Amino acid sequence: MLTNLERCRLFRDRMVSQMTTREHLRRKILELKEKKEAIILVHNYQIPEVQEIADFIGDSLDLARKAMTTGSKLIVFCGVRFMAETAKILNPDAKVLIPRKDAGCPMADMITRDQLIELKRKYPDAVVCSYVNTNADVKAESDICCTSANAARVVSSLDSKRVIFTPDRNLASYVARFVDTEIIPFDGYCYVHRRFKAEDIKAARAAHPNALVLVHPECDPEVVDLADEVLSTSGMVEFAKKSEVKEFIIGTEEGLIERMARELPHKRFYSAGKARFCFNMKKTTLKDVYDSLENEQYEIALDDEVASGARRALQRMMSLGK
Ligand code: 13P
Ligand code: SF4
Repeated sequence: MLTNLERCRLFRDRMVSQMTTREHLRRKILELKEKKEAIILVHNYQIPEVQEIADFIGDSLDLARKAMTTGSKLIVFCGVRFMAETAKILNPDAKVLIPRKDAGCPMADMITRDQLIELKRKYPDAVVCSYVNTNADVKAESDICCTSANAARVVSSLDSKRVIFTPDRNLASYVARFVDTEIIPFDGYCYVHRRFKAEDIKAARAAHPNALVLVHPECDPEVVDLADEVLSTSGMVEFAKKSEVKEFIIGTEEGLIERMARELPHKRFYSAGKARFCFNMKKTTLKDVYDSLENEQYEIALDDEVASGARRALQRMMSLGK
């Protein structure tokens, strides 16, 4: 039986050893990255130690832009598969690696290419706008893509009375607030954002009366109704940086809240209700990033026809500019 003092020492030794391993891995990653002239792109939801080794952290749109314009021929993408696929599609000459091949997005997997083809048959006069949170074969069947940062602007740019919007029904309903176009939503959703409830927002407001509420458009409409601002993940960072306000209630995945607290230590950030996690976003560890760089795994490879169809839809979105 260990005494309390022995238990404390054991705990301290374990912490020191973990920190040494983390620092060691961090250094090895930076060395390897330099040697291979690679760039590490990291989504806002990744764990803090992965965010800390990023060359660039951002939301889906920021990261897609960065992937397209980087001169680097080796991109390590720490996020989920649809994001790494988007990077490869927009920069076909680069080798794009995803450190965890099992990091998918359940919402992206909710719609298949065949389901979209069926919807197109049902509404032959509609234009198809797909959220970037889709697999490449669904993008290839779409006319244009959008992200959480530009969805309403993308739909407004379309010269059509009807738009099929896939796969997020909540983003579709958010866009419908700003356009006259008839939106035909697909019935997909994000299990992480759906967990924020209107009661959570009301309780958080009561607990922090001076805070502004910022939520992601993947939240349910009742939650969106109660927000002060509805923004993409990087949109929330920018908003909090520029705002005079010092406290914010955040309705999105915990990784972003950790980033905001780190970058804006003089401000306070509270999760809207319980902290919510996207398990696929949390899979990538520093060791995975190291292995990915060392062994150049796991390379994103796409069928040429799928890639060129998806590129057309993505480039149409990119051509709208910022
Ligand atoms: P952002 O593009 O706003 O970062 O959103 C991506 C995402 O997957 C949200 O769940
Ligand atoms: Fe997909 Fe939701 Fe995770 Fe974003 S938070 S990657 S939409 S499951």
